[in-house]
Amino acid sequence: MSIGSLRRRPGRTLGVLLLVLLSFLVLRRYLHLNPDNCAQEGARRLNWSTLIPHWLQHRQLGLQAKGQNFMLEDTIFWIFGGSIHYFRVPREYWRDRLLKLKACGLNTLTTYVPWNLHEPERGKFDFSGNLDLEAFVLLAAEIGLWVILRPGPYICAEIDLGGLPSWLLQDPGMKLRTTYQGFTEAVDLYFDHLMSRVVPLQYKHGGPIIAVQVENEYGSYNRDPAYMPYIKKALEDRGIIELLLTSDNKDGLQKGVVHGVLATINLQSQQELQSLTTSLLSVQGNQPKMVMEYWTGWFDSWGGPHNILDSSEVLDTVSAITNAGSSINLYMFHGGTNFGFINGAMHFNDYKSDVTSYDYDAVLTEAGDYTAKYGKLRDFFGSLSGASLPPPPDLLPKTAYEPVALPFYLSLWDALQYMEKPIKSEKPINMENLPVNDGNGQAFGYTLYETTIASSGVLHGCVRDRGQVFVNTVSIGFLDYKTTEIVIPLTQGYTVLRILVENRGRVNYGNNIDDQRKGLIGDLYLNNSPLKNFRIYSLDMKKSFFQRFSADKWSPVPEAPALPAFFLGVLSILPSPSDTFLKLEGWEKGVVFVNGHNLGRYWNIGPQETLYLPGAWLNSGANQVIVFEETMAGPMVQSTDTPNLGRNQYLH
Ligand code: GLA
Repeated sequence: MSIGSLRRRPGRTLGVLLLVLLSFLVLRRYLHLNPDNCAQEGARRLNWSTLIPHWLQHRQLGLQAKGQNFMLEDTIFWIFGGSIHYFRVPREYWRDRLLKLKACGLNTLTTYVPWNLHEPERGKFDFSGNLDLEAFVLLAAEIGLWVILRPGPYICAEIDLGGLPSWLLQDPGMKLRTTYQGFTEAVDLYFDHLMSRVVPLQYKHGGPIIAVQVENEYGSYNRDPAYMPYIKKALEDRGIIELLLTSDNKDGLQKGVVHGVLATINLQSQQELQSLTTSLLSVQGNQPKMVMEYWTGWFDSWGGPHNILDSSEVLDTVSAITNAGSSINLYMFHGGTNFGFINGAMHFNDYKSDVTSYDYDAVLTEAGDYTAKYGKLRDFFGSLSGASLPPPPDLLPKTAYEPVALPFYLSLWDALQYMEKPIKSEKPINMENLPVNDGNGQAFGYTLYETTIASSGVLHGCVRDRGQVFVNTVSIGFLDYKTTEIVIPLTQGYTVLRILVENRGRVNYGNNIDDQRKGLIGDLYLNNSPLKNFRIYSLDMKKSFFQRFSADKWSPVPEAPALPAFFLGVLSILPSPSDTFLKLEGWEKGVVFVNGHNLGRYWNIGPQETLYLPGAWLNSGANQVIVFEETMAGPMVQSTDTPNLGRNQYLH
């Protein structure tokens, strides 16, 4: 890492010093730095840091809480932050989104770090491609933004299991978010790896990270009083030296505080503003105030409306927060997309999983376009800084392509012969405990359970989250949280009972996170007798899954295709690709893959009606489109230049 290595280099000569200073003067012009502006002052220091040795800088104090102010070194500093999750935005668009954040008058980027994506198998880490955290943080630095890192390990964030890896649930006694040994050992290993990447990116080491959050809204969970001190120490022991923060909603605030860590608050409505002053004051006296999450909109669940928040209300609340003397972070500035199967869920009375889009009605849309909120907030933050803001980048073009025909087909039943041999087990095995992925179980997707039955009767069992039941290859209905039994009709002779179970997303918020095993999570009973001798197929639908389906495996779509099935077609693009939105009119429920990218789930119960397809993932020429449909195939896949996230419902 250039920043760290510069710092470590010994023995400087006067010649080197002069050379470095000269380079700085030249580059300063090139970088158009304006030292009058608070944020750009940060940028100036930051760009210095990438160019010159640490000992030439004044980076000793970092971000501090001094009385009611934040200070960055010896200057009063207001945090004007915005959240963007690198894992929800195609890497090719990171720069565009960060430039838009900067041009909105914000000076700080905040992001969570999703453990489940970075450590998909115990001890195997992935920080490549779209998960390249360091590249994202350094890009923010290059653009002149500070960074507040929110490394969890639990992050909530409407992501599967709040960002915790599903393999943790292999342990039947697992107690997530506690000092239970099985959990802390896994956290320790992960933090050893993660923090070795993060430490050199800290402010005092010349990087942009000015603060680090300890866990996330622990006050609302609060199972173990030793847990937050443990996480705090785990960060410090690994070299985290910047300001530590906690983040809680007003109900959890009291219980979320940790000695020596600055508390911040999360809120949305004007009515909650009172708690900004009173609650924060009551837990920590006269300290700088910060709204770590001002929710600019909200997420959506399948079967519900598309939640929106009025832009004037957003402006009023943002202005009231800053008028109250508080720093602020906009959660989300840009939400992006739950690509793949990463969405989370809630399960209080009913189980509700989150939709694919994480548009959030945020300041930028899911596809990175400007909203009314953007214009208003830019004027607002621009007027606060007093300096002229950088111009907002141009919009990325959107195109409605010709409808895509999907003339080739492979039924799930035919596809099974190309899969790994099924796992044989006397009893059903839940997804997390399947002997796949080097013993790490299955995290996402579908699992197919098969067994042979000799009679008709009533089938029941615990299915997480939704299981399509087949007699041989004929679908007879679904089992889920509400429908817990189904009648198996009488058939002649040899009968295979199949149940295709979908993990629709593990709960990311609530008290039942230990209870998020998926698939069949216990016995499956026919007429109250447990069924035995299962053959189990793990259908995670990762990239490698599709590599088995070479061209010769596909055949023309028959008159009456058997479902579930995969459908294959080509989206032709000339001359150069741009962003588009796919519409699955006439299809019912499934998943779309384009050029190997999992765009996420679609479901005709809505609210979301279009899937975001980033132009960056398209080629000029032919693009492979695969649809996995569970129940009803449509004629084509349509493309539109305008997203449709469903029926709007105003929050508040
Ligand atoms: C909380 C969490 C976030 C997110 C929001 C809702 O504040 O801290 O991670 O889940 O709620 O979007």
